[in-house]
Amino acid sequence: MNLFAKPSASISGEVICPGDKSISQRAVILGSILNEDIAIEGFLNGEDPISTANALNAIGSSITINGTSVIIEKRNTPFKKPETEVDLGNSGTGMRLMMGLISSLNIEATLVGDESLTKRPMLRIANPLNEMGASIACNEGKPPVKISPGKILENYTYEMPIASAQVKSGIILSALAANKSVTVIEKHPTRNHTERMISHFQGKIESIPYKAGNKISYIPSGLIASKSYEVVGDFSSAAFLIVAGLIAKESNIVIKNVGLNPTRFGLIDVLISMGGFIEIKNQKLTSNEEVGDIYVRSSSLRGISISGDVIPNIIDEIPILSIAAAFADGETSISDAEELRVKESDRLQAISDGLAKININHELFKDGITIAGSSKDIEVSPEIDSHGDHRIAMSFLIASLRSTNGVFVKDCKNIFTSFPNFIEVMKTLGIGVHER
Ligand code: S3P
Repeated sequence: MNLFAKPSASISGEVICPGDKSISQRAVILGSILNEDIAIEGFLNGEDPISTANALNAIGSSITINGTSVIIEKRNTPFKKPETEVDLGNSGTGMRLMMGLISSLNIEATLVGDESLTKRPMLRIANPLNEMGASIACNEGKPPVKISPGKILENYTYEMPIASAQVKSGIILSALAANKSVTVIEKHPTRNHTERMISHFQGKIESIPYKAGNKISYIPSGLIASKSYEVVGDFSSAAFLIVAGLIAKESNIVIKNVGLNPTRFGLIDVLISMGGFIEIKNQKLTSNEEVGDIYVRSSSLRGISISGDVIPNIIDEIPILSIAAAFADGETSISDAEELRVKESDRLQAISDGLAKININHELFKDGITIAGSSKDIEVSPEIDSHGDHRIAMSFLIASLRSTNGVFVKDCKNIFTSFPNFIEVMKTLGIGVHER
């Protein structure tokens, strides 16, 4: 699917943020481990959470998805060996978290994914799980991932060499399903949805500050399933709309029900430091996650330097931050972000290729990029390649707001993995996006 976004000077309106991808996936996994009747509302009906739910059903869960409502039914049978290979599609989170869960179920399973997922590193999670007693083999460190029965040890402790919430969560979910204690040390804080969800279901999990990061310990505890769980909106999806509101010539937009977990919304501080007009209203706690409404107006942005601890917090937002930087006055430099090389695409390369097409000067480094912003409107060269990456596709479609001739992005089908109603939401705000 190729998409074309028309130039639009003025945007306005109120939209509801789609459900959080990370939380939706954790809710179906943890709900399946709890094995009670649970109703989930606000679920992200996107391809990634659907792949994870299908993978859980393949090992014996009973999950039914109806739009943004999900029912998990209590089963009388234990998890079972899947009949075929389990396909996690494009979802790195789905694969790494399911590796954690399946490795403690005493079953065999082979996990596969699409072309992008097949290129992504899995040893970062397979190695600690194997040290913990699992039996996992990868293909040169990548999928397919073959899991055989293992025996999860008591009291395993792991200090992660990279800041990864997926690795942290895979290890914790493995311990939880095996009813063992575990400790994970993260050198930089990463998203803590797994910890918050375990606490929400009254499990014993504690996170204490440790050096520059956290030491997280799970203690076996009888989690109590509440009958319902509400997924808050995905800050990473809201980020596209926030930047759209900031860079548009005239704008006044409201994004409702956005997840505001402090381990996720670092981009707000970055954009405010760049001069962005952003207000947060109606904050509350929903299923142990902060949520609120975000108000955005067009702003004159200026360049900024970003590195260090904030990077894991804004890791998924760097593609759209690069678009904000492209229209900011002065230079923006982003470093310490080498992780972007192993996301759904090599995102640093994909950002650089796209910026070249929208005629924005920049310099690419191994672990970052410097972008020379321009307050002028851009003349776009034909065909930006999304590299099959949803966040790259959406970022460059948003750049159309400051283009004279619109933006054409190739291979946008993966937008459905995280933001299935993107085109509709764009239309509500006054941004014309259509297939071409
Ligand atoms: C995620 C964690 C992050 C993020 C990904 C979702 C999660 O990845 O980039 O989109 O749900 O735990 P890492 O754990 O690799 O940093």
